[in-house]
Amino acid sequence: MQKLLNWVDERLPVVDAWNKHLAKYYAPKNFNFWYFFGSLAMLVLVNQLVTGIWLTMSYNPSGEGAFASVEYIMRDVEWGWLLRYLHSTGASAFFVVVYLHMFRGLMYGSYQKPRELIWIFGMLIYLVLMAEAFMGYLLPWGQMSYWGAQVIVNLFGAIPVIGEDLSLWIRGDYLISGITLNRFFALHVVALPIVLLALVVLHILALHEVGSNNPDGIDIKKNKDENGIPKDGIPFHPYYSVHDLLGVAVFFFIFFIVVFFFPEMGGLFLEKPNFEPANNLKTPAHIAPVWYFTPFYAMLRAVTVDLFGLDAKFWGVVVMGGAIAILFVLPWLDRSPVRSIRYKGWLSKIALVIFAISFVVLGYLGIVPATEGRTTVAQILTALYFLYFILMPFYTRMEKTKPVPERVTG
Ligand code: HEM
Repeated sequence: MQKLLNWVDERLPVVDAWNKHLAKYYAPKNFNFWYFFGSLAMLVLVNQLVTGIWLTMSYNPSGEGAFASVEYIMRDVEWGWLLRYLHSTGASAFFVVVYLHMFRGLMYGSYQKPRELIWIFGMLIYLVLMAEAFMGYLLPWGQMSYWGAQVIVNLFGAIPVIGEDLSLWIRGDYLISGITLNRFFALHVVALPIVLLALVVLHILALHEVGSNNPDGIDIKKNKDENGIPKDGIPFHPYYSVHDLLGVAVFFFIFFIVVFFFPEMGGLFLEKPNFEPANNLKTPAHIAPVWYFTPFYAMLRAVTVDLFGLDAKFWGVVVMGGAIAILFVLPWLDRSPVRSIRYKGWLSKIALVIFAISFVVLGYLGIVPATEGRTTVAQILTALYFLYFILMPFYTRMEKTKPVPERVTG
């Protein structure tokens, strides 16, 4: 075995790579609960890829056959029901895990210098993940697949001058049809997964170049022992590789309860109208995207005024796009001398709490039908969402921060 390893190593530096990324990658020893979600995101990604490949073996990507082939997978294909539920529950789990992962970044200032690129790659992952989920949702060819795609693709039509042509180009037809389904299938199963995988590799490479942040936001590389090893660092393998298994066990416990007992999650993970085949002559009474898109959907619906000769729908799209775009520049909005929320002042703490509550409540408002009162609340929360970012350069500079300890705590 050693001989074989040497033979390979002389031709491809596998031992170097193992050491650089695992056995001699020194991670801060104070990682907490919030640091489980990076490895869990990778686990869910693998789950999606494997179950996705197996679903593809029995799925029929055509307007005529798609819905029936999903039913065939659910009823006739051996273990097909499990493959499908692992994949559909996995999609929601992906967003749960990624949202918690991003929130950790917000709390501990993980996007701050020198980790801006890790954050940017993360945001690109998030964008591609949303596109991946959106296109995947069309594939079962149910009523919500169809009408959800209809609403979202029509949004492109709100863009002045090129809008109509753009949405026609995306659909490949004058209405969502088998042609649209076929191209979404190609993108969902081939193109986007490749991009996603590449981005995850870049995300990790960028992380390992500068090293992980931690709940104290302290740079562990500043305190090294005589061998040049950070005093507050421990080798990722075996310490965190084994530690992360605890996260995997707990995650699987919850994940499988959902897969086996609540795969539809009361219409939240698999929406009720999607058990009816797509019908372009029958619009469902209430169209709402899956829960992970609803905060942005609520923002879209919150814009109700026409401005500068452009209708509200266009401005809704701008607000929705802006809500995601502004996250990209976050590293340059935070002017605080400290990273972690533990040492930031009250203003940052209050701002983060208000931001998180606004996002969650917007998520709820995007699920339920709009009323006048709800739209007003959504408008206020949308404003709060943006204020978190727009005011950040000011409150992070104004507030009094706490002294950051030399070495990590706890
Ligand atoms: C497929 C999705 C993703 C995967 C597989 C992934 C994977 C990882 C892993 C394994 C780590 C190191 C472990 C950890 O710190 O938890 C990490 C760190 C990080 N990720 Fe992600 N990530 C994903 C999405 C994102 C997104 C959407 C963002 C934000 C926009 C993001 C931002 C970060 C940041 C800032 C760090 C450094 C955290 C720190 O050192 O404190 N990631 N990611």
